[in-house]
Amino acid sequence: EIAQITLDGPAASGKSSAAQGLAKELNAYFVNTGDMYRALTSVVLSKGIDPETQPEEIEKILPEQDIRYVSGEGLELLLQINGQLAQASQVRSPEVAAKVSLVAKVPAVRQWLVKRQRQSAELGLIVMEGRDIGTVVFPEAKFKFYVSASPLVRAQRRLVQEGEVSEGATVEKVAAEIAKRDEMDMNRAVSPLKPAEDAIKVDTSDLPLEEVISLMATIVRK
Ligand code: CDP
Repeated sequence: EIAQITLDGPAASGKSSAAQGLAKELNAYFVNTGDMYRALTSVVLSKGIDPETQPEEIEKILPEQDIRYVSGEGLELLLQINGQLAQASQVRSPEVAAKVSLVAKVPAVRQWLVKRQRQSAELGLIVMEGRDIGTVVFPEAKFKFYVSASPLVRAQRRLVQEGEVSEGATVEKVAAEIAKRDEMDMNRAVSPLKPAEDAIKVDTSDLPLEEVISLMATIVRK
């Protein structure tokens, strides 16, 4: 029996949309782990902690934090930060995007969130998306995808999404932001971003979203 399907890949590679679509196709839950790292980052920044110079302060506040997905309607999961529904303006802000990889490289943070991510396996069939899902969170998963796209395509996609939260974004600025984040995510000491040995690689540069979803669904259903 399939329990978890994992999607990993660099920033703005199209993972979230693909994972969401696949979950819908399969009647599965969808868990976006990047939003959990972003949620914690928004808390860290709201407390005036500098993730670059005070990683130990992040570790200290963890026991008082509660970041979790709760069930919404049907298969929908809603992210809560200390009992409050997470807002897109909080988790997708440019300030959070600029600092999230610094928070995500703190070993205690990863331990803390990975434990919560594994708990969601109790829900049933889940499609989980992130950076280390196939390598660390669910190494036993039967289906693992590594989703990538060219840097230009990724920057363009993110620019379209970012129109909603930030003004004055240009393709150059966005490309620089995601390149910096990828560099940090791929080179950190703990759980760096990399394809699992048994991951199926999907390059979405020239594939429309519907094709990415149907390609993955076909593999899972075979
Ligand atoms: O949506 P986008 O591709 O920009 O990134 P995200 O999935 O929201 O993840 C934001 C950041 O969280 C990443 O750049 C990583 O630093 C971190 N992250 C991680 O370390 N491990 C995960 N499983 C998911 C996200």
